[in-house]
Amino acid sequence: AKKPAANSSSLPVEMEVPPRPTLFDFHGVSMTKYFTDNWDNVQNFKARPDDILIATFPKAGTTWVSYILDLLYFGQMCPERQTSIPIHMRVPFLEIYLPSLPAGKELADQLPTTPRLIKTHLPVQFVPKSFWEQNCRIVYVARNAKDNAVSYFHFDRMNNVQPEPGDWSTFLQKFMEGKMVFGSWYDHVNGWWEKKQTHSKIHYMFYEDLIEDSRREIDRLCSFLCLSPSAEEKERVITGVMFDNMKQNKMANYSTVHIMDHKVSPFMRKGKVGDWKNHFTVTQNEQFDEDYRQKMKNPTLKFRTEV
Ligand code: A3P
Repeated sequence: AKKPAANSSSLPVEMEVPPRPTLFDFHGVSMTKYFTDNWDNVQNFKARPDDILIATFPKAGTTWVSYILDLLYFGQMCPERQTSIPIHMRVPFLEIYLPSLPAGKELADQLPTTPRLIKTHLPVQFVPKSFWEQNCRIVYVARNAKDNAVSYFHFDRMNNVQPEPGDWSTFLQKFMEGKMVFGSWYDHVNGWWEKKQTHSKIHYMFYEDLIEDSRREIDRLCSFLCLSPSAEEKERVITGVMFDNMKQNKMANYSTVHIMDHKVSPFMRKGKVGDWKNHFTVTQNEQFDEDYRQKMKNPTLKFRTEV
């Protein structure tokens, strides 16, 4: 298939969409070739001490937090980037490997701005060791399992380089079994939570908290990052990252990325807490809750399960 796509200046060009991949076990985690083909290069990534890693399980709010950080660091200094540079060009995706999509080390090394903001979906055990050696700051975003699963389902429908999701009940079963790209949601959120207990430079935040009070969460982020924006700058960030504003913004909504079909489902889909209630049947919900209780035994990691 050929689709209009974006080059680095976001002008549409014809680009090949690679085939949908299959999942395979990669050191105990389900992955696809698009995230493992460049593995040695990823593992040898040379982080710099001021790099900031944004880590998430897919669909937990990566783009939202990436946009917040980008605006906090560069919104005032380079306002023109808001209308000219797509988010995936500002915040390189560390491990994705698609010939047609600038990303990873190659893009990170070309960034004209510092600090470099780098996005990853890797489970904690796969993070390149230089991030730990350099003691980089890491922002981890977690989202409640049910909404995360729903968002991932619609994403796999519209993203042509993700495996076919099948129907909702098939997908939900696979989610519970950890057969997702980047593996088990349960292992991901737990693994990063455990790491945070011994690593002071991880800021662990929740999508639901951002929805509840984005101002408070941005304040917390600023104190973690030792940033002190003026009240006016902060207002600009808060307004810029509101769901409707990001949805309209071609530099934030991934409409310039050729591998996604927004007619199937927009990337900025709903941006809400609790959409799972429109997807789960009563039986699915009971099974999910039971399975969840078995897998989420750490009493200190608290999601708002009553969403
Ligand atoms: P939904 O599919 O539930 O709408 P990621 O960036 O990790 O892929 O996550 C995408 C999810 O975050 C999508 O969820 C998207 O709508 C939501 N999102 C992105 N920006 C947002 C914002 N500014 N406010 C609320 N939700 C946002």
